Amino acid sequence: MIISGKELSARLKEDMRAEVATFPEKYGRVPHLVVILVGDDPASASYVKGKAKASEFVGIRNTTILKPDTITEEELLGLIRRLNEDDSVDGILVQLPLPPHISEAKVIETISKDKDVDGFHPLNVAALWQKQPCILPCTPKGIIKMLKFAGVEIKGRRAVVIGRSNIVGLPVAKLLLDENATVTIAHSRTADLPSVTREADILVVAIGRPRFVTADMVSDGAVVIDVGVNRDPETGKLCGDVDYAAVEPKASVITPVPGGVGPMTICCLMENTIECFLKKF
Ligand code: GUN
Repeated sequence: MIISGKELSARLKEDMRAEVATFPEKYGRVPHLVVILVGDDPASASYVKGKAKASEFVGIRNTTILKPDTITEEELLGLIRRLNEDDSVDGILVQLPLPPHISEAKVIETISKDKDVDGFHPLNVAALWQKQPCILPCTPKGIIKMLKFAGVEIKGRRAVVIGRSNIVGLPVAKLLLDENATVTIAHSRTADLPSVTREADILVVAIGRPRFVTADMVSDGAVVIDVGVNRDPETGKLCGDVDYAAVEPKASVITPVPGGVGPMTICCLMENTIECFLKKF
C-alpha cells in the first residue's frame, strides 16, 4: 500500500478551505501567514512557492517577503520583531537554511512563540517534550496523520527513526513515543544499522541521502516513511532516502517521494496557521 500524502493533504486542505470561508463573518478576517525567503536557492524558492499556493487554495492570506542574501542578521531580526508586533500577522515562517552569516538559532528564537507556525521556537520544543500544549512541527505532525490515515497501529509497535535533526528526527520520535510506540533513534553512525532497522515495524527515514535505505535493512511487512528530499545523482530527479524500487515490495505501507511526506508538511503548516489565528479569538 502506498500512502499518498498528496491525496490526504488535498482532502484536508478542502476541509480547511471550507472552515476558513466562514472566518470573515465570524472573525472579520482570514488568517495571515508571512513567509520570509533569504537568498535565491532554487529548492527553498520552490518550497516557498508551494506554501503560497497552498495558502491561496485554503483561503489564507499569504505575504512572501524576499530578501537578498546580503541582508544582515540585525536587519532580518528587526523585520521579524516588526512582524511579531503586527496584529494582522498570525504566522511567521523564515525558510531554512539561512546564509552562514545569519544565526538560525537567533532567528528561530526571535519569532514570537505564538506566531511560530513551524513549531521550532525553543518554548514550543520544550512544551512538546514536557507534554504541554504547543504548536507541533509540520513534518512530524504530517507523518502521524499519514500513519493514522493508512490505518497503521502505532501503539505497542517498534519504531525506528533514522535521523536526529531538530526539524524531523527528534520530534517525530517524540510523537511516536506519545502514541505509545517503542522508539529507537538511529543515525548514520549507528553501529550495524541494518540489524537495528530490521527490528522496525515502523521505519522513519530522515537522513538526506539518496537510496540510503536498501532492501536488506527492511523487514517484511514494515511500514516505511521516507522523509528524504534529494536529487538522484544519476538521473537528477527528485528521490527519497529509501531505495523505493527495492523496498516497496517488502513494505506493507510506504510513502513515495515526491507525493508523500512533502505535501503533508505544507498541509500541517496551513493547519498551524489557522490554529495561531484562532487562538487570538
Ligand atoms: N526548510 C526545510 N524544511 C523547512 C521547514 O519545515 N520550515 C522552514 N522554515 N524551513 C525549512
